[in-house]
Amino acid sequence: MSVRVKVPTARAWSTADPYATALRTGRGPLFLHRSDGWLLPLDIERWCAEPDAADRSVLHACHGPTLDIGCGPGRLVTAVAARGLPALGIDVSPEAVHRTRATGGTALLRSVFDPLPREGRWRTALLIDGNIGIGGDPAALLTRVRGVLHPHGRLITEAAPCGIPDDLDERSEVRLHDGIGAHGITFPWARVGPAALHRYAAAAGWVRESAWTVEGRRFVQLRGCHFSGRPADS
Ligand SMILES: C[S@@+](CC[C@H](N)C(=O)[O-])C[C@H]1O[C@@H](n2cnc3c(N)ncnc32)[C@H](O)[C@@H]1O
Repeated sequence: MSVRVKVPTARAWSTADPYATALRTGRGPLFLHRSDGWLLPLDIERWCAEPDAADRSVLHACHGPTLDIGCGPGRLVTAVAARGLPALGIDVSPEAVHRTRATGGTALLRSVFDPLPREGRWRTALLIDGNIGIGGDPAALLTRVRGVLHPHGRLITEAAPCGIPDDLDERSEVRLHDGIGAHGITFPWARVGPAALHRYAAAAGWVRESAWTVEGRRFVQLRGCHFSGRPADS
């Protein structure tokens, strides 16, 4: 897997003034904008708020040292730490890292495709809020996350929400858009429904352990295919 092909996504988010501004103010509008004019709203207000019921279902499933990949302003990593688990957020946006730290969380300015602390020892990894789209290549991302986790670790990830076809498997070039205009460089992004996510996960050596839906958001818990222990297994 080439790490370099993931660089545009990281650079786009890290240098995007509209994203930094949205995180600073806690408000959108902010969108991913495809070249055909289609706009995917980004839920800045929810990301900057306290964890909701759907988030709490994810928090409940976290065990052991937890890595939140693309942690944004840090609501999940901060809540995991408040539950007494070691937790680290990584994000390529300086404002995201700043906000996470300001709310008491621990975060590093780092791409998931860069070397990370404790590689191979994390027990839970999170790819929430559409973050399966990071790099625009779910197969490469799922393979990378396997290398980051302990062999007995779990990945909790989120598919496209209810109302989107289960089979959605979309890879596109997007830019950030603040409702007035598009900003920054074009970067690859992906969206997958649960069936497509399952196919990518199986091909990357993951087994689906559980799946659940809360408030229209669809989550999947995956483990490496060579492991069949209990969640708290160490
Ligand atoms: C769809 S947003 C999700 C925000 C987040 N989960 C939250 O709670 O606010 C994607 C996040 O991933 C980050 N990101 C993009 N590319 C990344 C990469 N290569 N490594 C780590 N984070 C990345 C972005 O800066 C952004 O904060």
